[in-house]
Amino acid sequence: MKSYLVNLKCSYCGAEYSAEELQTTCKACGKVLLAQYDLESAKKDINKDVILRRPQNMWKWFEIMPVRNPENVVTLGEGCTPLLPALRLGKPWGAQKLFIKEEGLNPTGSFKARGMGAAVSKAKELGVKAIGAPSAGNAASALSAYGARAGMDIYVFMPQDVPDMMRKEGMMYGANVYLVKGLINDCGKIVRTLSPERGWFDVSTLKEPYRQEGKKTMGLELAEQFNWELPDAIIYPTGGGTGIVGMWKAFDELEKMGWIGSKRPKMISVQSEGCAPIVKAYNEGKRHADLFANADTIAAGLRVPIAIGDYIMLDAIRASGGKAISVTDDEIRVAMREVSKAEGVFASPEGAATYAAYKHMMDDGFLKPEESVVLFSCGSLFKNAELIPLGGEPIVDPNDPDLASRVK
Ligand SMILES: Cc1ncc(COP(=O)(O)O)c(C=O)c1O
Ligand SMILES: [Zn+2]
Repeated sequence: MKSYLVNLKCSYCGAEYSAEELQTTCKACGKVLLAQYDLESAKKDINKDVILRRPQNMWKWFEIMPVRNPENVVTLGEGCTPLLPALRLGKPWGAQKLFIKEEGLNPTGSFKARGMGAAVSKAKELGVKAIGAPSAGNAASALSAYGARAGMDIYVFMPQDVPDMMRKEGMMYGANVYLVKGLINDCGKIVRTLSPERGWFDVSTLKEPYRQEGKKTMGLELAEQFNWELPDAIIYPTGGGTGIVGMWKAFDELEKMGWIGSKRPKMISVQSEGCAPIVKAYNEGKRHADLFANADTIAAGLRVPIAIGDYIMLDAIRASGGKAISVTDDEIRVAMREVSKAEGVFASPEGAATYAAYKHMMDDGFLKPEESVVLFSCGSLFKNAELIPLGGEPIVDPNDPDLASRVK
């Protein structure tokens, strides 16, 4: 197997950079670098059947992934998650083609495994020994796990009120975990300041070029799962936005290889009202988002007040005829219960937010019952157990003579 990675190209000014050394952002304009592949050659090596027959993890796309030597791949079996029909959730509108992409089944319980799996593998290939990252929570879990598997030193910085499990995972995986008085952008400042002197490679969202290559595989998989015709809409809970950027790139690459046509799903970004910079910029017709003041939401992964890839997301949302929409934390809580109860999918608040948004868009007609729609259940609610109040379940005694009457 051979990777057809060519180089890195700035998504903003077009400057090109070597992929044989560590890169972060564009040296000319500071914006996001995207990996480029020789797709003409790649398509001669692989076809849809080859991809279908390979082991079911995200590295089955090796030719259009950034690692050159398969021995450098650091994997925990990420990717190839199920696409589950969600008929009960769609029933109120008679929707027959609503699906959940169940990313909570990834290692460390979220889709962050894909991005960090790719970033750690490429970093290993380029000789990195220590990595630093800011995180809203799940990215830190994933980085800690892949770092452990690669034998690297990991330093993660998270807001101090991050869900407990993310802290516990980092500790168990042997990462150096720090809690920060502030939000993810404050965590990012710390990593930026300390990385040069400590020798850490900074894998902040979209400031490192390969996390989005891992997230890209969600788009590749969707194409495969929809039999090489993309769905009509994708609803994606947006923090830093790597998934939207990655999937949009995946569709472009698949079209260039001739595997799909020019049709694109409506790319719909969901945020929480307590932190909705992309929604605000979308509504104001802007290409760049301002820092969202006093960001606050129960969906930790959506608490990202500023995103370096804002223009790529907003361009994709607009070009696809999608939209950016916010929902309240109360709506997210309701949706968490609905998704769990209706479909048996234990969706994190971020994932449940997509259903809360879906309901609005079905009610106002933006989405139609006959359209195929994918909700991204990006992480497992196992990671956020503290958000679930106990139900006050009755306690019964096996020796109680009235047992039968106590159990309804
Ligand atoms: C569960 C969950 N959903 C969604 C997101 C947002 O993902 P992205 O940064 O790709 O927009 C995160 C990020 O932390 C997350 O943990
Ligand atoms: Zn540039």
